Amino acid sequence: MQATGQIIAEAPSTVRSAVLKPSFSVEPLSPAIGVEIGNLDLTAPLDDDQYAALRAALLKHKLLVFRDQDISPAQQVALARRFGELETHPVFPHHPEHPELVMLGGDSKIPGRENIYHSDVSWRERPSMGSMLRCLECPKVGGDTVWVNMAEAYARLPEATRNALDGLLAVHDLLPAFGTRMSAEEREARRVAYPPATHPVVRTHPETGERVLYVNEAFTTHLANYIEKNDVRFGFDFRLAEMDLLQHLYRQAAVPEYQVRLKWRPNTIAFWDNRSTQHYAIQDYFPARRRMLRATIIGDKPV
Ligand code: SIN
Repeated sequence: MQATGQIIAEAPSTVRSAVLKPSFSVEPLSPAIGVEIGNLDLTAPLDDDQYAALRAALLKHKLLVFRDQDISPAQQVALARRFGELETHPVFPHHPEHPELVMLGGDSKIPGRENIYHSDVSWRERPSMGSMLRCLECPKVGGDTVWVNMAEAYARLPEATRNALDGLLAVHDLLPAFGTRMSAEEREARRVAYPPATHPVVRTHPETGERVLYVNEAFTTHLANYIEKNDVRFGFDFRLAEMDLLQHLYRQAAVPEYQVRLKWRPNTIAFWDNRSTQHYAIQDYFPARRRMLRATIIGDKPV
C-alpha cells in the first residue's frame, strides 16, 4: 500500500518524460495537495507536450492553479475538453451559450451553497474525473475554496480502519443536497432520471493506482452492505454503528493537514482531480458577489 497520495504509481513514458521537463513552472501550495502553474498561457490551445505534462502534474498534485488567465467561456470549454468528455449538470444553471459550463457562486439574494465537502457529481454512475473552475468575479476577502487530498486521508487511517473498509460499498444520491430547492414533482422526476449510485467506499484511482477514501458528506447517504460485513447483535443495532463509521469517514475531509486553501482572484483557474480529492467553497462572503464557471469532465465508474 502506498504511504502517501503524492506519488504517481505508473505513468506512460511520454507523460513521464514530459513531467521531467515541463515548459511551465510548478510552485507547491501546501505539503499535501496543490501547485500553482506559472509561465503558461491558456488562451492558446495546449500542444501535446503541454497536455501530457499538465495531465501528469494533475495526477501527482491533484490540484493545479493558474493565475491571470483571461480566457473566454468557449476557450474554457475547449481546454477542459482536451482532458475528456464534458457533462451537463442537471440542476445548476448553465452559461447561456455553453451548457457544459455551470454558473456557481452567490450574491446578495442567494448565498452560494457549495460549502460542504464533496467530490463533484459522485451521485452519477460515472462521476467526474476532474473539474475546471474559473473565477469571473469574487469578493476582495472571503469566498476561498479548500481542497483535500483523499488518498492521503485514506493512507493515514489506522490499519484496522482501512481493513474494516475493504469491500464496503456506499450509496451516493443527488437529492439530499439538491432536492431542498425543488418542488415535490421535480424531486420525483430527478429521482427517476438520476437514481442513486453505489460505489466502493475506497476506490482505486484508475490512472495512479492510489487507494482513495471516496465517501462525502454532501452525497453519500448510507452504506449498501454494512450489515453483511458486521455481526448484528439485535434488531437495528447495526444502524448506529454504520452511521458512526460514516461520520468518522466524512470527517477525514476536514483534517487541515490534508488540505490547501485557495484565495481567488478574477481569472484564476483551478483544475482538480475529483477522483482523489474533495473540496469545500467557503460561504463567508454573503451578500457580496462571487461568480464562477465550472466545466466538469466525465470519469470512469469507480472500482
Ligand atoms: C464546486 O463545488 O465545484 C465549486 C467550488 C467553488 O465554487 O469554489
